[in-house]
Amino acid sequence: MRFAGWHGISSAGVLPRQQYRGRAGTPGAPLSNDPMNKGMNQPVVGATPAGAQDRESAAAAVREMFTSIAPRYDLLNHVLSFNIDRWWWWRTARRFEAILKRPDARVLDLCCGTGDMTFALRRRAGSEAAKILGADFSHAMLRRAAAKTKCTGLHWIEADTLRLPFPDGHFDLVTSAFGFRNLADYDAGLHEIARVLRLGGECGILDFGEPGGLIGRCYRLYFRKVLPAIGTLLSGVRGPYAYLPASVERFPAPDEMLGRMRHARFREVSWTPYTFGVAGLYRGVKSV
Ligand SMILES: C[S@@+](CC[C@H](N)C(=O)[O-])C[C@H]1O[C@@H](n2cnc3c(N)ncnc32)[C@H](O)[C@@H]1O
Repeated sequence: MRFAGWHGISSAGVLPRQQYRGRAGTPGAPLSNDPMNKGMNQPVVGATPAGAQDRESAAAAVREMFTSIAPRYDLLNHVLSFNIDRWWWWRTARRFEAILKRPDARVLDLCCGTGDMTFALRRRAGSEAAKILGADFSHAMLRRAAAKTKCTGLHWIEADTLRLPFPDGHFDLVTSAFGFRNLADYDAGLHEIARVLRLGGECGILDFGEPGGLIGRCYRLYFRKVLPAIGTLLSGVRGPYAYLPASVERFPAPDEMLGRMRHARFREVSWTPYTFGVAGLYRGVKSV
């Protein structure tokens, strides 16, 4: 599969990148001028790592952060989530089994990082027929995904989720696991996902949530205090594991997120909590 302007990694190597100027706006444009946000009547909401001034600097800080922890990302992920992350990816892939089993399906896993969600999709697809792409803007994360690839039929591309180098209506399924929350502009991200999905195509966004009650209190203690300390110790990098709880707190609650999905032309939107709402899957079908 080739598209103008994408920077791909396969087991074979790295292809040259060209600047893609897609519908998601001109690179460098301030958030408030983004045409994606017109009519929303809401301030732009997205990840804001410490020191970020605008969408571009927020994205650069996020990319740098993940690049800095790429060598230890998998280990940290499994340790800090007690390996439950594997079950969350598996459950998400199972949810989209009907699409994945279609021999002509085109699937895009955004913010794929080191590829574990993408691999879960491939395993669920079963055959080598569905075309599955993993996309991320951190070269270091993608390199690890490529190195871990043991099957055929998977492709890795270096691309910014807010400016995807794909034509309109191209994919049957777009997923993202624990990446969407890091986008500098959630509405622009949803619109971009809707743009590349065909009519009736589905989107699945797996991300962290904040459980309530006693479980929520214990979880917050772990997430805010214990996890950043262990993460910093094991990765040797201070910023990312302090950013993680802050980014989850900032992420819209399920009702608000579902409203934003509807606004971005998704119907039948739903949120399914996983593990008491520590994580959850947002799902929607592209309409109009
Ligand atoms: C927490 S990791 C998740 C990786 C993987 N999906 C998983 O479940 O382990 C978030 C990933 O999102 C990527 N990311 C964040 N913002 C992005 C953007 N605007 N475009 C592409 N990738 C992005 C980061 O580089 C990082 O690899």
